[in-house]
Amino acid sequence: MTTTADGPAYTAEQVWLPASERLTDWDFAFHDLMLGDDLRMEAFRAAVLEAVRPGTTVLDLGTGTGILAQWALEAGARRVYGIELNADVLRTARDRVAAAGHGDRFLPVHGLSFDVDLPERVDVVISEIMGNLADNEGFATILADARRRFLAPGGAMLPRRVESYLVPVTAARAHAQVRAGTPQDGGGAGRFAELLRDRGARGPFDLYYDVVLPLDGHLSAPRIVRIYDLEQGEPSATYEVPLVFTVHRDGVLSGFKGYFVATLSDTVALDISGDGIAERTASDSWKHCFLPIEDQVPVRRGDRVVLTFCRSGTDGPFGQSYRWEGRVLSEGKEVARFAHSTAA
Ligand SMILES: C[S@@+](CC[C@H](N)C(=O)[O-])C[C@H]1O[C@@H](n2cnc3c(N)ncnc32)[C@H](O)[C@@H]1O
Repeated sequence: MTTTADGPAYTAEQVWLPASERLTDWDFAFHDLMLGDDLRMEAFRAAVLEAVRPGTTVLDLGTGTGILAQWALEAGARRVYGIELNADVLRTARDRVAAAGHGDRFLPVHGLSFDVDLPERVDVVISEIMGNLADNEGFATILADARRRFLAPGGAMLPRRVESYLVPVTAARAHAQVRAGTPQDGGGAGRFAELLRDRGARGPFDLYYDVVLPLDGHLSAPRIVRIYDLEQGEPSATYEVPLVFTVHRDGVLSGFKGYFVATLSDTVALDISGDGIAERTASDSWKHCFLPIEDQVPVRRGDRVVLTFCRSGTDGPFGQSYRWEGRVLSEGKEVARFAHSTAA
């Protein structure tokens, strides 16, 4: 992924490989992309300044290059712990916070959060570890563990609530790139075919992609898939959700768009469903999640798309597989079926 001085170098319906599936390999270019993502940065800055009170202690889980920690320190936090699994990236966080004059109040902790202990419980746990489908970077399990072991009684989580959504979409250009095996960062059709083989994927339609999918491609109203209340409860990492969509205009069903809306703090929400690339209302780093179906289906107003969407966990803290299968009904009769899964 590249950006230019004028902004992001991508366009609507351009297909990228799913960044969430390789988060342990993110390089500095990807961190720069996140730091240049106005939608993300403005919402998180406002929320951190609202949620962190002077004199409080804070954990920044997945501190990355330390930007949330810096804002917490600017808000007057007494101490900020920054947990990060990538040692090189954590060094940048330490340098950033020191350069801002707050080095004495920042305690970097290298490791995976599950393996780390802190010397005290904190007043606020802040994090930005969501994927574009909310749970494609394991955030709910990671944050449930953090709340249990690191948060003081009465403390606050930021974000506090996250909802994931799916909506059927028309996206013929994105669909064509998936079929041709030409995601922007796939290295060409040959290399991409190898990558699918290495993943154990049956084909290009058994993977999801990062794509900005325009709002005018929505074929129905979006439906909530999951609600994560991060201040209570223990979410299940696996689920199977039945969803029914009523098509509100004629078009061609190319697949599904996934995204999240997060309540970060008392008055700040982050909604990544937008599509304004020039206006910076689309997220540069998340884009949207595109779950394609192999055979596109012409649909008419009033048709129904019946979807079962499943997540199952795999061994590591970040791995998961998704399955999306269903059928299209026109005047009550089944006209098409589809079934895809990222499971190897
Ligand atoms: C999306 S980046 C955000 C970085 C930074 N907080 C920011 O807002 O720019 C998430 C970071 O969290 C780290 N991370 C994710 N889960 C983690 C975990 N369970 N333990 C430690 N680090 C984690 C990743 O390595 C990555 O650097």
